Amino acid sequence: MAPDGGGNAGSPQTKTMTITYNDLIAPRSALFERFLGLYAELQPARNQFRRLFTSADSPIHGADHWVRVGLFGLAIAKKLRERGLPASPVAEPGALEEAVILAAFFHDCARWSDGGELDHGRAGEEVWRWYAAERKFPDGLAASVSQALLFHVDHPAVDPAAGPVAVCLCNADRLDRVRLGESPKPKLMYDDGAWRELEPLSERLLDEVTRKVALVRLAIWSGRGMPRPFPEH
Ligand SMILES: [Fe+2]
Ligand SMILES: [Fe+2]
Repeated sequence: MAPDGGGNAGSPQTKTMTITYNDLIAPRSALFERFLGLYAELQPARNQFRRLFTSADSPIHGADHWVRVGLFGLAIAKKLRERGLPASPVAEPGALEEAVILAAFFHDCARWSDGGELDHGRAGEEVWRWYAAERKFPDGLAASVSQALLFHVDHPAVDPAAGPVAVCLCNADRLDRVRLGESPKPKLMYDDGAWRELEPLSERLLDEVTRKVALVRLAIWSGRGMPRPFPEH
């Protein structure tokens, strides 16, 4: 155990586990497999949602980024649980983690491009709502993921109405702005008790995941008989 370094406004008495790089990447393989499964499962939906996966191959907003957001999100979820998660639809063991994985996968799934695209949160949420109904996810979990998808773009950066899934997704997404050469701006971050510890690990994760995902892409595009997100020109 180690003190949290005093960066957690609102819970100064709480002692929490320090996040190490190994903790951060521990769920990596499971996350890859889960994302591959979701990617395969959603292929038929591309006929219905024309934006779906059109940017999956982008190094900026594609699969590499989704994986990093998922890993940051899970690390943040662990910290939120340590702090004591208030009653919510995702308070059950494993529910927040499941919701964070789904939010990370869907959050940029319906981008046309790497541009501003202020409506891509809504577009991704539309796909998620359809998928959640098809797979009969519990209403509370589905709503928590929906909120996260909607709040992560074209929304006040820090909204008191944000539930734990939205906090995990928004902060995880902002931590990965390291790929754009940026650092998180404290006024744009939720107080999750985690992001200040995660920030120094983010550059290393950027290198690691980018390398591994290159291998995963081979499995996605060739080994499993699935089409590339868009044709090679
Ligand atoms: Fe986004
Ligand atoms: Fe994103």
